[in-house]
Amino acid sequence: MEDILAKLIFLLATSQFVLCDPYYENSTGLQSSRDSKFIFTVIQFSNDICFSPKNESGICYSTSECSEKGEPMGKCAGGFGECCRVALTGCGGDVRLNNTMAYSPNWPGTYNEAMTCTYKVYFAEKPEPPAGICQLRFDYTAMDLVAPSNKGVCENDRLIFENDEKSTYFCGKAPDNYHWYVETVGTNSPHTFTITTDSTNYERKYGIRVSYIPCEQGVPTKCGNYYMGTSGEFISYNY
Ligand SMILES: *[C@@H]1O[C@H](CO)[C@@H](O)[C@H](O)[C@H]1NC(C)=O
Ligand SMILES: *[C@@H]1O[C@H](CO)[C@@H](O)[C@H](O)[C@H]1NC(C)=O
Ligand SMILES: *[C@@H]1O[C@H](CO)[C@@H](O)[C@H](O)[C@H]1NC(C)=O
Repeated sequence: MEDILAKLIFLLATSQFVLCDPYYENSTGLQSSRDSKFIFTVIQFSNDICFSPKNESGICYSTSECSEKGEPMGKCAGGFGECCRVALTGCGGDVRLNNTMAYSPNWPGTYNEAMTCTYKVYFAEKPEPPAGICQLRFDYTAMDLVAPSNKGVCENDRLIFENDEKSTYFCGKAPDNYHWYVETVGTNSPHTFTITTDSTNYERKYGIRVSYIPCEQGVPTKCGNYYMGTSGEFISYNY
């Protein structure tokens, strides 16, 4: 009995020694093992919109996700995430992630060329409301195309939301922080928007953030510019 107890104490002492050894020998090691446990079990954040120190809009991802999807621009989620620049640069492309930016050719500079830039926005057609996506929202961080003619017609450049029943086309310069909603319910993915420019001499520029609006966050249908309350066949938003 005494023998067994002695062995048990020895075992306990041994396992305790083994368990504690790395902690006491290397406090740096302890810190890092605790940190990694902490990250895997506790820290979770949603892939929300974030802004870089220069106020460029990005998506909050882990460092490894960001290296696959974009470029890091600074921290987010209290320092645990990377504010990731997920952007289409050049002319056209596919949008599949919420808050993707579409930048004009030569961004942040201007371009002065006849081009047709086509963007396809893919979304899940199902589930249907209330669980799904009901609208796409386009936020312009910049929008400067050739202005409409005296008759108010976009004869040169055009921005067209091809699946939008409320608008035909836009051109000219948008006010700061302009936005436009397009319905997705009952339509097919993808939705296409196109920026067509002609050979008119003009320094153009656009930056458009695309966001997927869940049905419960949706604005009343047929409202393009909800907060400013303007909608119609053709919108002149030039000033
Ligand atoms: C302690 O552990 C860290 C990594 O966990 C290692 O870089 C460092 O060299 C170790 N220090 C000692 C004194 O063993
Ligand atoms: C950053 O941009 C957003 C819109 O994209 C705007 O609401 C916000 O005020 C800007 N912040 C700064 C510090 O400029
Ligand atoms: C997309 O991002 C916006 C924030 O810009 C957010 O309000 C919305 O819920 C997000 N959509 C989805 C489907 O997560």
